[in-house]
Amino acid sequence: MLAQRARFVRTFTARTSSARHPRLAIEITMALVNEHYLKLSAGYLFPEIARRVSAFASEKPDLAKEIIRCGIGDVTEALPASAIKAMNAANDELANRATFKGYGPGTGYDSVRAAIAHGDFRSRGLEVADDEIFLSDGSKGDCGNILEILGAGNRIAVTDPVYPAYVDANVMFGNTGAAMAGGGYEGITYLPCTEANGFLADVPAASAPAPDVIYLCSPNNPTGTVMDRARLEAWVAYARKHRALLFWDAAYESYNRDASAPKSVYEIAGARECAIEFRSFSKSGGFTGVRCGYTVLPKSVMAYTRAGDAVALHGLWTRRWNTRSNGVSYAVQRGAEALYTESGKREVAALVDFYMENARILRDGCRALGWKTWGGENAPYVWCKTPGSFDSWGFFDHLLRNARVVTTPGAGFGRCGEGYFRISAFNSRANVEEVVRRLGRV
Ligand code: MLT
Repeated sequence: MLAQRARFVRTFTARTSSARHPRLAIEITMALVNEHYLKLSAGYLFPEIARRVSAFASEKPDLAKEIIRCGIGDVTEALPASAIKAMNAANDELANRATFKGYGPGTGYDSVRAAIAHGDFRSRGLEVADDEIFLSDGSKGDCGNILEILGAGNRIAVTDPVYPAYVDANVMFGNTGAAMAGGGYEGITYLPCTEANGFLADVPAASAPAPDVIYLCSPNNPTGTVMDRARLEAWVAYARKHRALLFWDAAYESYNRDASAPKSVYEIAGARECAIEFRSFSKSGGFTGVRCGYTVLPKSVMAYTRAGDAVALHGLWTRRWNTRSNGVSYAVQRGAEALYTESGKREVAALVDFYMENARILRDGCRALGWKTWGGENAPYVWCKTPGSFDSWGFFDHLLRNARVVTTPGAGFGRCGEGYFRISAFNSRANVEEVVRRLGRV
């Protein structure tokens, strides 16, 4: 910023210099904006959907109450009882001077980090230390915030279609060029995910420029597909060969029932040298409103200085949290910790089973209409090809107007998403059954 300011003053001096006043310089002070934000091409996908839905509701107020929202993947069912009990008990502690707690550790309470490291990793035979877990208010933020500890100028790779938060965060951090006509940003490497590759990203060809940071999401949002072991092994080998970082977003891990598909990137040998994993309690514990997730950053993950010296990211991420945050609220952490108790695990499994049954109903309903679908078996999202000659937004509007059902247009996730739409299984059973009935009538 200071460098930018200095450049501005220099430019202005040059323009105002003259033979009579060769040294005249007028400094005009002003707050500079992060101009990378100005590159953002359109509103974030979900607010844009909300805008269209509320425009329809204003136009047809008599139909507004019939709208069923299967657009954003937001949970609908009550929190697991164990989490509620733990959060209530934590609030009672805060109500008592003897047990009151003020600031907690920026990276999370030790007991919570231990419960996670043991429950999600060591109990499954994966090496993850307690202090390699970093609590946060959710993985959406972490997927962008992690860029703070990386240098400028990294080449970023994302799948297409992609969860839009990865891309927008990189635009904001200045890792892209301008928005391109027809979608996407200059400077980003898009990994096409199409019917031909089963909507699963393959490593780039050896002749293509290697990205420095690769975002992968499995079970995938939006396509609901899960990455197979062989592909993920290829990605880990690729990242190690090119000294790149893999960002493995496993927010939907609890929905993965395919025993052959990795749940954690650390199931792959070598991943502890190159991969950072993001997890969330939003979709497992129903914490979308409570807000809690975590990042796994092994001490062996390195990035490099321009001189080529390796730097362990763990220390930088620890420093980042301790400087920029005081962590997640005490009661919320206690609620997350309770998800790892025996009762908590049973309740999470029941919640996930409930949404997965919704996904099955939606998937079968779409298939019965002759629509081609993916996902819905290991993920709470069903990805469908738009029927007839509709494009993504056209079919979104058609369903909204004629079925009062909100979906997510595939084009909102990237150019390869054009011609598809996503249905979220996060809803009540009655609504899901009603959605299937209404889809059959459009
Ligand atoms: C989605 O609908 O893709 C997600 O729920 C949005 C999110 O997790 O931010």
